[in-house]
Amino acid sequence: DGANEKSLETFRKRPGTADGGSVKSQKGGQNMSLVTTKEMLNDARDRHYAVGAFNVENMEMVQAVLAAAERLRAPVIMQTTPSAIKYAGADYFYGNVFAAAKDACVPVALHLDHGSDYSLAVQAVRAGYTSIMIDGSKMPLESNIQITRKVTELCSSIGIPVEAELGKVGGKEDDLEAGPGEAYTDPGEAEYFVEQTGISSLAVAIGTAHGFYQGEPELDLQRLSDIKRRVSVPLVLHGASGVPAEAVAESIRRGICKVNYATELRAAYTGAVRETLENQPELIDPKIFGKAGRERVTEQVMEKMKVCGCAGKV
Ligand code: G3H
Ligand code: ZN
Repeated sequence: DGANEKSLETFRKRPGTADGGSVKSQKGGQNMSLVTTKEMLNDARDRHYAVGAFNVENMEMVQAVLAAAERLRAPVIMQTTPSAIKYAGADYFYGNVFAAAKDACVPVALHLDHGSDYSLAVQAVRAGYTSIMIDGSKMPLESNIQITRKVTELCSSIGIPVEAELGKVGGKEDDLEAGPGEAYTDPGEAEYFVEQTGISSLAVAIGTAHGFYQGEPELDLQRLSDIKRRVSVPLVLHGASGVPAEAVAESIRRGICKVNYATELRAAYTGAVRETLENQPELIDPKIFGKAGRERVTEQVMEKMKVCGCAGKV
């Protein structure tokens, strides 16, 4: 509504990047702005697919993800962890992703992944991020509710959706050590958590872990179905790198609407850069190996989008 739009404009450093207040490009592209993940994920839930959410670490990865989304006509979420923001700053990621989105023919959202505290959420929103995760999953339930509610109170007043996590996804995400993922999401607790926090989407722990797996991960799909039965907001799968395509597809059939990929993209980018430099030891032009990395990431992302079922949804 009008009041919300106004407070959003006052709060943000960047004008009009959330839904309802698009920034128009001069070049006449079709979409021309960053959108929030709210409509994206609700559409995915209603039409039984998942939106791929891809962690980006530099400009080439942003370009690569956008290229894949446009080629497949898929809505797309680009996201950055706290350590990526520490590395380059939220403004740089906003600048890169906005540049990618402004003339894109597909909707693009910029999401804070594993937001560690309230002030980082504020920083990201002020920079122009259109979706926020607050990750209090390592805290006891009531503390998780408290921190999450603080962020949803802020974000709901300015039209920004919030993802939170309940249960523990294991492994290591950047410099965030989650420990062993022994604590899967309890369906009853999930219902209570969503009610108490007013979140827009819920990340669940059902047996995935961040980083590469040793052996094949086994997902607790029954648990996922039980959570889905009790919770109406879209569900999010973390740690999808290395999870077999069929397991991801089955989890989408059971209610997952957003699938997060990071490790495999890093490996794709760095692998292509490494090969290029090994093959051409005299090479000094960063554009040459950057392009190789970029192309490899595009291929990888297209593959993942097909698994998610988001290809052709725009
Ligand atoms: O939040 C990011 C994802 O959960 C990434 O997990 O590195 O295993 O793909 P991944
Ligand atoms: Zn994650």
